[in-house]
Amino acid sequence: MTAIKGYIAPSRRPGELGVHSLDRFHLAVPDLAVAQNFYREFGLDIGEKGGCLTVGTYDHPHLWGTIGEGPRKKHGYMSFAAFEDDIVAFSERLQAMGIKRLDPPAGVDSNGLWFHDHDGNLVEIKVAAKSSPDEKSRLSFRAAGPGERGAPLRSAMPRTRPRRLAHILMFTRDVGKAIAFYTSVLGMRLSDRSGDNIAFLHGIHGSDHHMIAFARSNAPGHHHFSWDVGSIDDIGAGAMHMLGKGFAKGWGLGRHVLGSNYFHYVQDPWGSFSEYSADIDYIPATADWASGDHAPDDSFYAWGPNVPEDFVHNYEA
Ligand SMILES: [Fe+2]
Repeated sequence: MTAIKGYIAPSRRPGELGVHSLDRFHLAVPDLAVAQNFYREFGLDIGEKGGCLTVGTYDHPHLWGTIGEGPRKKHGYMSFAAFEDDIVAFSERLQAMGIKRLDPPAGVDSNGLWFHDHDGNLVEIKVAAKSSPDEKSRLSFRAAGPGERGAPLRSAMPRTRPRRLAHILMFTRDVGKAIAFYTSVLGMRLSDRSGDNIAFLHGIHGSDHHMIAFARSNAPGHHHFSWDVGSIDDIGAGAMHMLGKGFAKGWGLGRHVLGSNYFHYVQDPWGSFSEYSADIDYIPATADWASGDHAPDDSFYAWGPNVPEDFVHNYEA
């Protein structure tokens, strides 16, 4: 067989069925102009298509999500991507498990498999290229040498441009049921959890420590989007920029324990968050991560400011 010049196959765990990427999200918000301003200032590449905002990252061809208008902020759906030769097996799995297939949402052109998860959230599995990383995200840090100035002038600090969507954290009524559904149906694996409070799941074909996470609430809902950046400076500069644009509420700088990423969360105009994340742990397709169940006060963050009072408030409840 002739190899396509320059083509490198995505990482894959042979012989096992699981989605490889969180391909796309849809979120509804009450005011698209407000959303456009917030996400543009955050550093994302925001376009418009068919009455929705499109959410991309600069220098990356992937469309990470769409944002439409609705009466209030509400999670719409998540599309997960699978390898083409796995899609029939997924279809058979759904049927064997008695999970009802649904039509795609109005206006969404798709031939993927649509169904509800354990909480009634709309989920799709479709064939798409692997957009989750095949290697650990790079963190740049350069210490100045002796006799050398380390920091740039403040006026010369570049704007923070996230490189890709890292993960989504959802609220769920039942963390145990979320783990059961996303592992048995979508073929993801549990990375770590803290009792029934929070759980982190990764893709088996090589992904960050979490592609999706679930936190306990009395209703489903969207908590945050996380965006990968390349340095601690990127996190700090992004946070400062958002502060200057009036988006002062948030949490950071800090470092998580589960996932290990450095973070700063900026609260969006609807009470949920967008996270600048750097240096998250990576689980290669060839590795079996030893998942653990961690005590609440020893799992959330290694260091950082006090957690804002409404950080885990579900504004969709
Ligand atoms: Fe996160």
